[in-house]
Amino acid sequence: MTPLMKIQPFIQAYVQAIASILESDVTVVDNELIRVAGTGDYLAEIGSTVSHGNFFQKVLSTGEYGIIRNVAEDPNCVGCEKRSYCRELANLAYPIFQEQTVVGVISIIAFQEEQRENLLKNTAKLEEFLKYMSVLLESKLYTDQAKSRLEEQLKVVHTAEKAWSFVGKSPKMQEALRIGRKVAKSDSTVFLRGESGTGKEIMAKMIHNLSDRHDKLMISINCAAIPENLVESELFGYEEGAFTGARKHGSIGKFELADKSTIFLDEIGDMPLHVQTKLLRVLQEKQVERIGGRKPIPIDIRVICATNKNIEQMVAEGTFREDLYYRLNIIPIELPPLRMRKEDLPPLIDHYIAYYNQKLGKNITGVSTQALQTLMSYDWPGNVRELKNIVEYLANIVENNIIELSDLPDHIVLRSRKGFSNWSLDEILGDYEKRVLSSLIKPSATLEEKNALAETLQISRATLYRKLKKYSLL
Ligand SMILES: Nc1ncnc2c1ncn2[C@@H]1O[C@H](COP(=O)(O)OP(=O)(O)OP(=O)(O)O)[C@@H](O)[C@H]1O
Ligand SMILES: [Mg+2]
Repeated sequence: MTPLMKIQPFIQAYVQAIASILESDVTVVDNELIRVAGTGDYLAEIGSTVSHGNFFQKVLSTGEYGIIRNVAEDPNCVGCEKRSYCRELANLAYPIFQEQTVVGVISIIAFQEEQRENLLKNTAKLEEFLKYMSVLLESKLYTDQAKSRLEEQLKVVHTAEKAWSFVGKSPKMQEALRIGRKVAKSDSTVFLRGESGTGKEIMAKMIHNLSDRHDKLMISINCAAIPENLVESELFGYEEGAFTGARKHGSIGKFELADKSTIFLDEIGDMPLHVQTKLLRVLQEKQVERIGGRKPIPIDIRVICATNKNIEQMVAEGTFREDLYYRLNIIPIELPPLRMRKEDLPPLIDHYIAYYNQKLGKNITGVSTQALQTLMSYDWPGNVRELKNIVEYLANIVENNIIELSDLPDHIVLRSRKGFSNWSLDEILGDYEKRVLSSLIKPSATLEEKNALAETLQISRATLYRKLKKYSLL
């Protein structure tokens, strides 16, 4: 399919509008000489090859505008099979470009003498007009191409990430999942709340994938990751020349890109106030206006947003708009922190052990009782993300098939004192001593280094050696 054919409905609507202003017929032909759009008699010929291709062929190959002032006499028409019965009197044609290549022709046609006179009288103006129309089509081709390129890229990311599965048997998590599944089919705005790493993003993906919009890509925006001065153009797009440094042809915004799909506004609490105002308008009016653009573009989107901030407090402090808050907070879903649903830990650990076994070609079968106790009594400030990272670390370093207490990173063991509840004081101190010593000395340490360490710790060399031996650190 030629580039112009891909945007055929757009071109046809466009051509009809021009024809009614000019009171002449207008047609667009692509680089295979197939009529993409047309008005008047040519409406019926859309999709078929133009029979009298000489003139258009010339415009296509030279990339220069052309005019036929009088069909009966014009050299371009000599040899045309249609010449004897052609109803065209005059024709003004302008090339359409895509990245410097001619991809088609747009032309104004006079069928009546009056139209011909008008065309000849205003040739310079009409040429200017066609040039402008051609540039508009070029920019439409450009944005559509940029859009499909972006969608392709996103598709790759999307399929790579599709292998998610939600783990969570705790009543709190089950409740969140129940609401998520229930509202997936509707278009209502969902507001995901929860600390960092509690699964807000995978919940957003789940809702989108269960919705009727699932065959389109969910467009995610991390409001905290975009520099403040760029948020607006990222979200709403801009027209060519909207500001210094604006790209030629302008740029499509994420909202437009999310048309007929879901937009995920992550870290919404980090959205600057002036953008909040604009967002509110988009949500109310269901249309976006590009920066520097004159006409609003209607959009059909489903919004899911997320934050780990105390948004109510932000509203009270005036850093988050109250009206926007009410607009977004239609279906709040709270994702509880891991420390409030410890029963989810064992299944999550198993889930990630299986995941990393496969990924790293390991055969870890589980976690020792002591290690599990310690993991259970740790607070998990980084929630599931932290757990996932720890299991990845363990899967990399563990040599046996079971994860032992001694394999756990120090900060977890030291911060989860309750894990020692059925240990003797000797065991706890011993474990601590081992960790201290192993962090101070490399297995390859030289005699001098060991002597120096004994001195620093103010113990005898013999004691140091005894301890190193006891903890298999020699
Ligand atoms: N219930 C769960 N089951 C399986 N994996 C989970 C679950 N919750 C979170 N994860 C995983 O934990 C990691 C963090 O989750 P996610 O990115 O969704 O968190 P978040 O709430 O968006 O965090 P942040 O606020 O930091 O952006 C991801 O790799 C995700 O797949
Ligand atoms: Mg997130």
